[in-house]
Amino acid sequence: MENESIKALREALEHSPTNLPLRLHLAQSLLNLLQYDEAEKEFKKILSQDPQQTKAKVGLAKVYFQKEQYKTTIVILEEIIPGNSDEALQVMYCKALLRSGSTKEAGEVYRELVGFNPALRDEELDQQFRSYHFDQGEGGEEDLYDEDAMESIRPTINFNHVGGMNRVKEEIDLKIIKPLQHQELYAAYGKKIGGGILLYGPPGCGKTHLARATAGEIDASFISVGISDVLEMWIGSSEKNLHEVFERARSQTPCVLFFDEVDALGASRSDMRQSAGRQLINQFLSELDGVKANNDGLLIIGATNAPWHMDPAFRRPGRFDRIIFVEPPDQAGREAILQIMLAGKPLGKLDLRAVAKKTEGFSGADLQAVVDICVEDKLKAAFSSGVPEPIQTKDLLKASKIHKPTTREWFNTARNYALYANESGLYDDILSYLKIKK
Ligand SMILES: Nc1ncnc2c1ncn2[C@@H]1O[C@H](COP(=O)(O)OP(=O)(O)OP(=O)(O)O)[C@@H](O)[C@H]1O
Ligand SMILES: [Mg+2]
Repeated sequence: MENESIKALREALEHSPTNLPLRLHLAQSLLNLLQYDEAEKEFKKILSQDPQQTKAKVGLAKVYFQKEQYKTTIVILEEIIPGNSDEALQVMYCKALLRSGSTKEAGEVYRELVGFNPALRDEELDQQFRSYHFDQGEGGEEDLYDEDAMESIRPTINFNHVGGMNRVKEEIDLKIIKPLQHQELYAAYGKKIGGGILLYGPPGCGKTHLARATAGEIDASFISVGISDVLEMWIGSSEKNLHEVFERARSQTPCVLFFDEVDALGASRSDMRQSAGRQLINQFLSELDGVKANNDGLLIIGATNAPWHMDPAFRRPGRFDRIIFVEPPDQAGREAILQIMLAGKPLGKLDLRAVAKKTEGFSGADLQAVVDICVEDKLKAAFSSGVPEPIQTKDLLKASKIHKPTTREWFNTARNYALYANESGLYDDILSYLKIKK
């Protein structure tokens, strides 16, 4: 049954079928009455007469969104959002992305959206992308986010699951594990405990993996914090969020507090949110220093691909005072990594040394890709033959020809910093890796 006003609108349109504002009114009324199919018809009629009618496009996007045709919604919104100031459309766009399975993209769009205008926060999207959010005051809405806002886990991997990286493991052992386990000894020699380790290097070479394994090695809890989350998601209360992150870590020592992409802190200064960035850096530094709180039992590890973007203040004693280059694994490292990655799979008699030899420049992530390719091939074969065949050396060699190593690009950038901005030999490790300097 159509209601009276719809009926009246339809009658009026019979007399003047080309009256677009009138038809738009009808279409929007239908939409409001949740009569999506009818509304769709009218919006389309409008667009067939005037393909530039933005309001009809907006209406149509809403219709498709309601009809759960998200891909179509996205196509329309991508056309109309540029040049349209209605922010609600962007929220709809974000939801359409999320619901159609483009989770990562949705997260990026949402982050940006809320960064510009926190009022646009939306419950469904918050649920999905909740980050390290801690609201003002006690109770109330805070509880919605608090519980698992910051994932704290007990990693099940330890140093045995990390191939190669012996130098880095040693540094971590000496700098943060031993001090934790033998506090009295350090005290006896008057050696101060504290500070953190900064791991830097090309992507995929095991920084995150090693940080996790460090926590597992000493049976500590592990909290991983993406700085850009703290920074962007809830702009305005970033300092407070950061403080909460530290407090939570302090409340469950021993704890490895891992800051990923920590360079985002420095980078923030050059963008438009300058003052916010500076304040956040200061907050971070005072948390690191443990001025107002006790950082005992807290192991702080930072990781970055772009150490050159970091504020030098981070490198002072007691802060990130060990800066470690995490380079692509050498031949022995690659062999060890492959061994770890292949453990438990059906294997033939393997010559991993030969594979390691042929994979110069491969990162851990690249080696993982090689193994994945092999496993997929074997699975495919097993589906047709019905028998799982073991992985052979030649399979690995073949896969390593298909996958191209991903670390070179990073070195192209790093080389420049190492050559021209190498304050006090900070990047000597890069130079010696590149055999530019001993
Ligand atoms: N030394 C290693 N031993 C075992 N596995 C490794 C090693 N290095 C890397 N991997 C594997 O490669 C993958 C990528 O490593 P990880 O995420 O730690 O790299 P990353 O240095 O943190 O990279 P990014 O800079 O991109 O964050 C991990 O899933 C891990 O399984
Ligand atoms: Mg990482």
